[in-house]
Amino acid sequence: MSIQIKQIQKMSVVKCFCKIVCMTSLFILSAEASSIEKYKFPDEFLFGVASSAYQIEGGYNADGKGESIYDYFTKKNPKNFFNNSNGNIACDFYHKWRSDVKLLKDLGVNFYRFSISWTRILPNGFSNKINGDGLRYYNDLINNLIENDIQPMVTMYQKDLPMSLQRLGGWTNPYMAYYYEDYARILFSYFGDRVKHWITLDMDYSGYGDNVYPPFLNEPGIANYLCQHVMLLAHAKVYHLYDAEFRIMQKGKIGIAVNATWFEPGSFSPEDIAAAERAREFKIGSIMNPIFHTDGNYPNVVRQRVDNASKAEGYLQSRLPYLLPQEADFVQGTYDFVGLNIYTTFLVKENKVNSNKTSIMKDANVTFYQDKEWSKTSSDWLRVAPDGVRKVLKWVKDKYDDPEIFITENGFSDKGEINDVKRIQYLQKYLKAILESIHEDKVNIKGYAVWSFLDSFQWVAGYREKFGLYHVDFTDPNRKRTPKKSASWYKKVIKEKRVVDLKEIASDLKGDS
Ligand SMILES: *[C@@H]1O[C@H](CO)[C@@H](O)[C@H](O)[C@H]1NC(C)=O
Ligand SMILES: *[C@@H]1O[C@H](CO)[C@@H](O)[C@H](O)[C@H]1NC(C)=O
Ligand SMILES: *[C@@H]1O[C@H](CO)[C@@H](O)[C@H](O)[C@H]1NC(C)=O
Ligand SMILES: *[C@@H]1O[C@H](CO)[C@@H](O)[C@H](O)[C@H]1NC(C)=O
Repeated sequence: MSIQIKQIQKMSVVKCFCKIVCMTSLFILSAEASSIEKYKFPDEFLFGVASSAYQIEGGYNADGKGESIYDYFTKKNPKNFFNNSNGNIACDFYHKWRSDVKLLKDLGVNFYRFSISWTRILPNGFSNKINGDGLRYYNDLINNLIENDIQPMVTMYQKDLPMSLQRLGGWTNPYMAYYYEDYARILFSYFGDRVKHWITLDMDYSGYGDNVYPPFLNEPGIANYLCQHVMLLAHAKVYHLYDAEFRIMQKGKIGIAVNATWFEPGSFSPEDIAAAERAREFKIGSIMNPIFHTDGNYPNVVRQRVDNASKAEGYLQSRLPYLLPQEADFVQGTYDFVGLNIYTTFLVKENKVNSNKTSIMKDANVTFYQDKEWSKTSSDWLRVAPDGVRKVLKWVKDKYDDPEIFITENGFSDKGEINDVKRIQYLQKYLKAILESIHEDKVNIKGYAVWSFLDSFQWVAGYREKFGLYHVDFTDPNRKRTPKKSASWYKKVIKEKRVVDLKEIASDLKGDS
């Protein structure tokens, strides 16, 4: 009897104890949730949207524009582009920019990131022939943005190299650094009085080591390293040009945009943990170290691995070019901010790549994959993986002495739905992670741009993958724009500088699909 009573008493004590624990943990959980909700973006934080010239402008041969590699290859090899599509008309932003700036104004963005088409300014790539209509076009656009309180953030070049320069080897040609400096001088001279944020390059060597993207050079482990190397020198040249001749008068900032994919170990094994760090060093460090690290050169692990592998393969010189001491000095420190393009995460395993062909993956001795559990988008490479956001931002902060950061691209692809709830959910998760980076990790993030303003020509995916906050009807000669639900949502985010819940805007929209 007494034993029974004791047991009952014990049980109720346990129950009671459990209740307290559960209540406490519930309390902690809700406190945590609300502390995240409480985080807001700082008052001076800048919100924007991003685009690039070839993807939206059209007007591919209008008013004296010259031929870029995308003009050339979409015509020459249409089969390389989904549904044989091209950017000849695209969103026709070239003609519709005035009404599009009204859309930007309505959205309430603080800045608009766009790229300039090199061949609209310099039709043959070189500085001896300047196209006045091209200058006028971007002048009008920049003036109109500023009149509407939208700061222009200008990418000097994003993928659409003049074909004339590609014929000379494109970014494998070290003289590109000089041609690029000439082009940049013209942009600073004509637009630098009004443009205060410049991105020299969107650092991207696609097409140099693969056969998927223009210019289809397909020399992995050689041409992609060369492209990266020449881009580093070109970027540095333009930074020094600004310092020497423009900065005092124009007082702008110069940065570079980097593809900041997070690489997470595929397992807890020491091999995979080391492999993930190696992947970061090969993919991000190779670009950021020379510019942002006080050591100012390629990461040691990259240098040694490629040197060793090259020797073993019988090359007399490393496939990874050397930054000579004065070149390393010239490149180091050439930034006022870094632009990070953040979309997704890859898992990494150490893996011997069995191929006769050289490649970055083989040099790094890694393979990448994604978790099948992560939600898909309409782009093969893009799965929803917000956990990587804080990690990549923290990695950059710690490794590179806390640079000023703009998130220059972040976005989600679907098939063009107007009621694009999945895009909103993606952006919510990523923006929450960014808020945590700002408030908990103290990462110095100044601004953020959604990729993209409009549904666009998405390179080799043509018009299949839609990233826009605004739908564009590509079957309509007028290319009619329709705001998606995400546009209303983002408008509220910008206005209130916080991550807005989906429920809060549900009533704003009627009659959606
Ligand atoms: C391919 O292009 C044609 C004509 O330009 C268009 O009618 C068709 O809808 C496109 N197909 C897809 C799957 O986008
Ligand atoms: C960014 O990096 C990832 C991983 O290496 C790659 O899959 C993706 O194609 C890259 N994006 C661009 C635009 O270079
Ligand atoms: C490269 O080779 C050197 C000399 O053989 C060796 O000491 C070093 O550990 C190797 N480095 C890497 C990263 O494999
Ligand atoms: C490459 O990875 C394999 C495991 O797949 C490992 O056995 C080998 O030692 C690694 N090689 C180098 C050079 O890191």
